[in-house]
Amino acid sequence: MLYNICFSPAGGTEKVAGILGESMEQALEGQSTMVNLVEKSAQDRIVRLKEDDLCILSVPSYGGRVPSIAASRLRMIRGNGARAVLLVVYGNRAYEDTLLELNDIASACGFRVIAAVAAVAQHSIVRDIAHGRPDEEDKEELGGIALKILKKLAAADDSAPVVPGKHPYRLFHGIPLHTYAKEHCIMCGNCAFECPVGAIPQETPNAPSGGSCISCMRCVQVCPVQARTADEETVEHIRQKIGPACSERKKCELYL
Ligand SMILES: Cc1cc2nc3c(=O)[nH]c(=O)nc-3n(C[C@H](O)[C@H](O)[C@H](O)COP(=O)(O)O)c2cc1C
Ligand code: SF4
Ligand code: SF4
Repeated sequence: MLYNICFSPAGGTEKVAGILGESMEQALEGQSTMVNLVEKSAQDRIVRLKEDDLCILSVPSYGGRVPSIAASRLRMIRGNGARAVLLVVYGNRAYEDTLLELNDIASACGFRVIAAVAAVAQHSIVRDIAHGRPDEEDKEELGGIALKILKKLAAADDSAPVVPGKHPYRLFHGIPLHTYAKEHCIMCGNCAFECPVGAIPQETPNAPSGGSCISCMRCVQVCPVQARTADEETVEHIRQKIGPACSERKKCELYL
């Protein structure tokens, strides 16, 4: 069985994981299951794998780290010796210690990590950074990466990859970016329901996001009338700050 378990608030990580999963699924000719740990239905579910399962485990990079809420949800998985392919998706700036941290979490959950991948998706806050990615070029690169991983699996090579990153991990305490509802909010409550940390009150979903907000932009994505939005001044400030580091296209990387 191939599991594709991700934490993907704005959908970019899930997109990349889907491309990688599809390329591997065809060759494995087995069943596959996609789980997005951000969804309410997945939040309290303990996923238990078997030794002969294969799992793609993916997270976005937030400040060069695994988002802490994703780390807590991943820790509920029982790997039971299943093989894992790690995937970190980032917004074309850098992913620093994210792969190393994901590797540590996966090992602690009982996975045998056999490969690690880093890839780029559209920046979930500054939407014109890495706009349209993963694109055709990424798809081609991910297809090539899937073939190399499948070759390693076929050779029954369970060696662990050496992944980049440093201990202690870099510090990341979030960014002061909140979301608010514009006047044409129809009070449907979608944003409050979908927020992974309950930062929008269910009773008053037109309220700004509160102190627990992790700036993941899921509420903005799920609003049916584009009423929920991030504070534009702060987004512009982030654009100015990270723009230069994001200007060069970064390729998909594989650690075997
Ligand atoms: C709070 C926050 C911090 C982020 N930090 C980084 C970062 O350090 N480096 C980077 O390249 N992208 C960063 N990004 C961009 C995301 O890693 C990227 O857009 C990813 O695709 C988001 O995943 P999702 O679409 O599945 O939510 C950050 C995004 C958010 C919301
Ligand atoms: S309120 Fe904050 S944490 Fe909740 S979905 Fe929106 S951006 Fe994400
Ligand atoms: S999803 Fe949009 S329209 Fe619905 S309550 Fe939230 S801000 Fe308002």
